[in-house]
Amino acid sequence: MSIETALVIGSGTMGRGIAQVAATAGLTTYVYDANADQVASALDGIGKSLSKLVEKGKVPADVADGAKSRLKKAASLDDVDWSKVGIVIEAIYENFDAKTTLYGELQKRMTPQTILASNTSSISITKLAAATDRPTKFIGMHFFNPVPLMSLVEVIRGIETDDATIEIVESLAKKMGKNPLRCNDMPGFVSNRVLMPLINEAAFALMENVADATTIDEIMKQGCNFPMGPLTLADFIGVDVCLNILEVLHRDLGDPKFRPCPLLRKMVDAGHNGRKSGRGFHVYSK
Ligand code: CAA
Repeated sequence: MSIETALVIGSGTMGRGIAQVAATAGLTTYVYDANADQVASALDGIGKSLSKLVEKGKVPADVADGAKSRLKKAASLDDVDWSKVGIVIEAIYENFDAKTTLYGELQKRMTPQTILASNTSSISITKLAAATDRPTKFIGMHFFNPVPLMSLVEVIRGIETDDATIEIVESLAKKMGKNPLRCNDMPGFVSNRVLMPLINEAAFALMENVADATTIDEIMKQGCNFPMGPLTLADFIGVDVCLNILEVLHRDLGDPKFRPCPLLRKMVDAGHNGRKSGRGFHVYSK
C-alpha cells in the first residue's frame, strides 16, 4: 500500500517540519492543530524554510512550489477527506492523556486501514497503541529537529505493531527522503536513551563548575566533532523537553544513572527553556 495523503497533527517545530517533508515528497498533506491560528504561522514558516532550501540549491523551485500547493490547512478534523488519508502522524506535545484523547477523536473518523504514527520522543509506543482501536497499525515515527535537514527517522515497533505497518512506514520515510532505522519500544528508544545522558552529564559538568557553558560546548565540538555542543543542543531541543525525557528514562528504567541534573530542573523552574524562550544555557536574541 502506497500512501498518497497524510494528516499531520500538531504544528509546532516538529509538526511543521514533518508536514514540509511530506508535502515535498509529493503527498497531499493536511495540517491540523487544536490551536487553529498556529497552523497559518506554521504554513508561513514552511514557506520560508522551502525558500531557504531553494536559495541554497537543496530543493528545486518547482518542487518547493508543488509542496506549497499540496499543503492543506485543516481548520477542524472534519475538513479532512478521511477516505484518502493513509497515515496520521501525531506530533502534539508530550502528554499521554492529550495524545489518547486526540486518538479517540481520530478513531471516529479514520478508516480501518489508516496507520496512526506518533512522533513521541519518550512515551511508550505500546502504551499509546493500547489506548487505540488499532494497536497493530500504531507505530512510532520519530523525526529529528530540524526535520528538513536531518536524515533519520527512528521507526519504533510497539509490542503489537505488525510487519505490514512497519514496511509501509519505512517506505514512506524513504519517499520523504529519510533513512528509517528500526528499534523496539523501550524508554527513550535508542536516540534519547543515548543522547539524554550526554546532555545531562554536560549539565552536571556545568553545575560542578568543571568549565563554563561555552567551553563545555567547544570541547565537545572541537574534541569530538559534534556539530553542536551538548548544551547548545539542549537549548535547541528545549531544556524542558530534555528534563521531561530524562524523567521518563529515570522512572521507567529505574536506573539512577538517568537521574536528571538539578540544574536542569532549576532552569525549567526559571523558564530558561532554551532557544524558544530566549535563554537556556546560552542567551539568544528573539
Ligand atoms: N529549514 C531550512 N533551513 C534551515 C532549517 C529548516 N528547518 N533549520 C535550519 N536551517 C538553516 C539555518 O537557518 C542555517 O542557515 P544559514 O546558513 O543561512 O544561516 C543553516 O540551515 C544551517 O545549515 P548549515 O549547513 O550551515 O549548518 P550545519 O551543517 O551546521 O547544519 C544542523 C545545521 C543540521 C542543525 C547541525 O548543526 C546539526 O546537525 N545539529 C545537531 C542537530 C541534532 O542533533 N538534532 C537532533 C536533536 S534530538 C531530536 O530532535 C529528537 C528528540 O527526541 C529530542
